[in-house]
Amino acid sequence: MDPRKERTNESKDRSKEMKITIRLIVSLVFVVAMVVFVFSLYQANYEKNRLARDLERRSIILAESLQESIAPLIQSNAPTKLNRIVERFGNRERLKGIAVFDKQGMALTLTAHLKQQIAQPFPQSVNSVAENRSMGSFMNVGAQRMYIYTIPIYSDDGSVAGALTTFNDISYIDIRLSEIWKDNLLRFFTLSLLVVLSTVLVVRWSITGPIARLAEWMRELRTAKEERANPVAPIRGDILDPLVSEVTQLAKSLSMARARAEEEVRSRSKPDSIWTSNSLKEYMRAELQDKKLFVVSNREPYMHEKKGRVTKCIVPAGGLVTALDPVMRICDGIWLAHGSGDADREFVDAHSKVRVPPGEPSYTLKRIWLTKEQENGYYYGFSNEGIWPLCHITHTRPIFRLEDWIHYQEVNELFAKALIEEIANEESPLVLIQDYHLALLPLLVKQTRPDAKVALFWHIPWPNPESFGICPWRQEILIGMLGADLMSFHIQFFCNNFLDTVDRFLESQIDWEQFSIKRSGHATLVKPFPISVSYDQKVEMEATANNDASIRECIMKEIGIQVKYLGVGVDRIDYTKGIPERFKAVERFLEKYPEFVEEFTFIELGAPSRDHIRKYRELMSEVEETVEKINWRFQTKTWKPIVYLKAHHSHEEIERYYRASDICMVTSLHDGMNLVAKEFIISRHDNGGVLILSQFAGASRELKDSVIVNPYDIEEMADAIKFALTLDPSERRERMQRMRNVVKEHNIYRWAGKLIAELSRVRLTGE
Ligand code: F6P
Repeated sequence: MDPRKERTNESKDRSKEMKITIRLIVSLVFVVAMVVFVFSLYQANYEKNRLARDLERRSIILAESLQESIAPLIQSNAPTKLNRIVERFGNRERLKGIAVFDKQGMALTLTAHLKQQIAQPFPQSVNSVAENRSMGSFMNVGAQRMYIYTIPIYSDDGSVAGALTTFNDISYIDIRLSEIWKDNLLRFFTLSLLVVLSTVLVVRWSITGPIARLAEWMRELRTAKEERANPVAPIRGDILDPLVSEVTQLAKSLSMARARAEEEVRSRSKPDSIWTSNSLKEYMRAELQDKKLFVVSNREPYMHEKKGRVTKCIVPAGGLVTALDPVMRICDGIWLAHGSGDADREFVDAHSKVRVPPGEPSYTLKRIWLTKEQENGYYYGFSNEGIWPLCHITHTRPIFRLEDWIHYQEVNELFAKALIEEIANEESPLVLIQDYHLALLPLLVKQTRPDAKVALFWHIPWPNPESFGICPWRQEILIGMLGADLMSFHIQFFCNNFLDTVDRFLESQIDWEQFSIKRSGHATLVKPFPISVSYDQKVEMEATANNDASIRECIMKEIGIQVKYLGVGVDRIDYTKGIPERFKAVERFLEKYPEFVEEFTFIELGAPSRDHIRKYRELMSEVEETVEKINWRFQTKTWKPIVYLKAHHSHEEIERYYRASDICMVTSLHDGMNLVAKEFIISRHDNGGVLILSQFAGASRELKDSVIVNPYDIEEMADAIKFALTLDPSERRERMQRMRNVVKEHNIYRWAGKLIAELSRVRLTGE
């Protein structure tokens, strides 16, 4: 901004501040004046009444004490004696005179200096005699205001012989009253001065000062200095706190949005050539001198399982393995994971290691052995009944048990010990820790090996601070995670939530511009790396040669149904995946669009998962019952709407279904990324098929050409199925082509390359 304009604005601000202060002062002084006035009025009135009562009382006492001695003197007509009494008492402090009147009100004797000022007959004396009672009144005598008290005097026979009157000076009451007013006037001035001073100070310190600093800070955020500006307002503990916290939130969002926009601009201005397995290999060789990678996860990439007498090696369902196995195949290194297969021990060497994949050994899998109790507490309990529902907003209550937490810590320590042994001879090793099972591992590793470069990748969503805050061990978990040099989530939104959570629960320094957190001298960079699937051009070319139509024919034969349209869903059977909702949408679709009855079948490939947890067992029953109910309602002799294949399927098997289907439904109620969506796209070499995708899956941020749905809205999903099946073929192709380009470019090799590059660039404390 032009400096002149800035100066004018500043002087305008100052004059506004002045006006506000003056307005405040005038109103406060007015209030003080009113209070002092009312208080003085009350005090003066009270004092006046008190003094008057006192005077009256003294007058009565004096008159009554003189009454006795005066009565006989009136009767005996002894004026000299009367005069003497009057002179003796008539001139005391505040008593200005005494008079004795006869029955007609004529003075028998009267203090000398009052003679000229008293009218005779004296009316109050006449009235007192006539009414035979004492009387008091305030009246002017000459120039003086007095209190005049008259009492009747009785002769021996009880008749009224005359009256005695005392004249009291009351000027001292007025003096006292004016003293009160003067005192209170002084009080008013002192109070007003204090009010003015404190108002000016309070306004300056607590209102206009902080507002000016807030405005200056906001100006810095907005103007040229913005790149360095801290989005945390530099004002604390003032009455402006609620405003400051709201403005800080706004500034943080602004900062985040700006960072996102910059990142987008950066990635657009430097288009990446497509990363392939070869380019990642090349990158690892050239940049990292073939450094080994150390991956640590709970789930192992290959599991040896006994199926009756035969032992099989299976690849477990789930995004983590899908994503990381291709990376490890080309990077080599060691993958440490829980050996959870019932035949796992039969296939390892003395160090619990086995080269994988079988038949094509490319890297080493080191199996970590857990006891049943440990697996129960750490995996089923704390990880999957605690953190899993805590991070997924699906209205499933997390359960936190102390014994599970103890096992969780114990198993994290076990993993740390095994990893530390493996990296013993590696200089500054690169460690990629995976997921919520191992939140404590980063700190445990760094405590022993501060030279290790550690990344923690969180495969599931990160909730807002309020939701995360219910975890009894929230601080321990955050501190463990912040041991990592790089903390990574799928999308920016989860990073923002994480920063907010740390901000809420830990004493730390957050750099909202760089997205890093400093705590106890260690910095953690927080960045999104949307995970993906592998893409291989060679595979694509081979696959295109295969006929998708024949795959479709085979599948229809296998399920014994002939239909025009096929839909597919692929999931671990998990309550976060929205499986019952999806089936209900199929039901509603057939109900609403009956022309598709016997024309459309939906195939669900559901892999049983975490079946020692009650919620999962209940879900499995719910899924089966829903399928039963819908099929019973619509099925014919040769057709049924839903084919539910509850089993573990290999990647090759799943790919056939992807390629044969017209639509794929991903309806997660909440999901970190969801790689089924990306796998479906990458397997559609024919640019066919439509993806129906939940707005609550991280993948919806990238796959904008899918049909985005709210899985809680059954009606919308039913319409989405109709829309997808009847979509114009050219538009369908265009949408799929665009999405394929996104996934091809943002494939898993790029993800790994970028993540590893970021991690290797991290500067360790002291470097
Ligand atoms: O998606 C989160 C995740 O934990 C992945 O890391 C994993 O691939 C998947 O769920 C499967 O879970 P589990 O290992 O419990 O079978």
